[in-house]
Amino acid sequence: MTPYEKLTKCYQCVTSKIDFKPKIALVLGSGLGDFAETAVDIHSTLDYSDIEGFPRSTVEGHKGRFVFGYINDVPCVVMQGRVHYYEGYPMTDVVLPARLMSMLGAKVLFLTNASGGINAGFSAGDFMLIKDHISCFVPNPLIGENIDRLGTRFPDMSRIYSPDIREIIKAIAARLGIKLQEGVYLQLTGPSFESPAEIRMLRTFGADAVGMSTAVEAIAANHCGMLVCGISCISNLACGMTDNPLTHAEVQECADKAAPKFKQLISESIKNISGYIDLHCQ
Ligand code: HPA
Repeated sequence: MTPYEKLTKCYQCVTSKIDFKPKIALVLGSGLGDFAETAVDIHSTLDYSDIEGFPRSTVEGHKGRFVFGYINDVPCVVMQGRVHYYEGYPMTDVVLPARLMSMLGAKVLFLTNASGGINAGFSAGDFMLIKDHISCFVPNPLIGENIDRLGTRFPDMSRIYSPDIREIIKAIAARLGIKLQEGVYLQLTGPSFESPAEIRMLRTFGADAVGMSTAVEAIAANHCGMLVCGISCISNLACGMTDNPLTHAEVQECADKAAPKFKQLISESIKNISGYIDLHCQ
């Protein structure tokens, strides 16, 4: 089956079970898993395992379902748990959910994640608005026959993270008194954390934070014409910047602690992004 056939099959499966048109798609990263229960007025849910051919998240702390419902009265589809390349899926499977949510009607993809801070000015618990990314250490999700129905063979990537939406989020953060860093997110495959030498290398390349997701989803979403924004929760300082060894539990714990503010920032941003969509997207 080609990636497009698989996508179409998943789309048909979802639309046969769910009657809901989302305006915004939200991907929840580590620590944000319970956002769906607390901030979404739920219309319906769909487990990934009930969608034939859909990749499943196997990571602890990541659930595996779509939640359809309203955030601040805005119709949204929320991914509670994403799929990572290190789980062994081909990159076309990793980005299938983003494409699927676009086909369901979402105009904006709002990405969240936990990442390691590389910028010396960052602290654990900070939020970083993603202004650009470095994805060239992982396979490009658009490799293979181009899906012309979704987008062009050589899509422009000069504004991957919508400058207008970034301004909206910055204004919300300022109004809520939430400190918001801004920087470049670099995606590696994982699953091992980086070595201190790798972190020094990545810093010279211009990365402010490092993680194992997000950039490829942003590429696929750009390709199919969605607007994209992303916020990273700096769950730890990257390897070699402190004396502590890194653990998934530490990442999870810090992300959990930051969650209440993160949720507030996301909910308020979604309200204003919805207004932006009304004015700028057909
Ligand atoms: N490195 C890579 N991915 C991560 C990190 C990190 O330090 N923290 C959370 N995700």
